[in-house]
Amino acid sequence: MKDASANADAKRLAGETAAELVKSGMVVGLGTGSTVAWTIKRLGVRVKEESLQFLGVPTSFQAENLAIASGITLTTLNVHPALDLAIDGADQVDSSLFVIKGGGAAHTREKVVACSAQRFVIVADESKYVEKLTGPVPVEVLPFAAKLVERRLKALGGVPVLRQGLRKDGPVITDNGNFVMDVDFGAIEEPEALAARLCGIPGIVEHGIFDNLDELYLTRAGGVEIIKRRV
Ligand code: 5RP
Repeated sequence: MKDASANADAKRLAGETAAELVKSGMVVGLGTGSTVAWTIKRLGVRVKEESLQFLGVPTSFQAENLAIASGITLTTLNVHPALDLAIDGADQVDSSLFVIKGGGAAHTREKVVACSAQRFVIVADESKYVEKLTGPVPVEVLPFAAKLVERRLKALGGVPVLRQGLRKDGPVITDNGNFVMDVDFGAIEEPEALAARLCGIPGIVEHGIFDNLDELYLTRAGGVEIIKRRV
């Protein structure tokens, strides 16, 4: 994946640094997006140069294709339901380590994979680190339920926008065959409470608020800072 963004170097540093967490024998969730793409590529180099032996579980077709191209051996959650580690990117991470994901419309599989892992690590550049989450929150929606979901999201105070394809007319269709709504809730004061309300709407397959991050690998001032969940 080509990344011409201003933060490309910072993304690369965070992504490649976290690739060092992978040890031979592990089963590792491979996230989606331009930051974790650096992790996957670096892991491919380690497989070739260090004879690193591990199995990857991809969170999307993007991650799957990149992992295959990088020479990484893949498995599935059916075969390996318990992962040692999952590494992924994020759209926003707040100071309490609540996360918004789904900028790439992959958050449903990303959440399943992250929740299957003993340790969940996010790689990000500093632009993603915020005091408070401000969204928008991506929500994967069963197309059949789109109108009901839209009504319920508005009733919660959100402003939902059906995500449109870039080089495809009409809505984005996820890897699971669903729609995505990006929902603006303004500043999110209580991410856990909002997450619970979103889970209660019939037709929402999964929302992009994550509360299970263990460690953030954040590029800051030219280095990578590791911010751990306080226990
Ligand atoms: C995909 C995601 C991505 O991890 C998130 O959008 C970050 O992407 P990038 O590293 O390209 O900024 O959640 O659904």
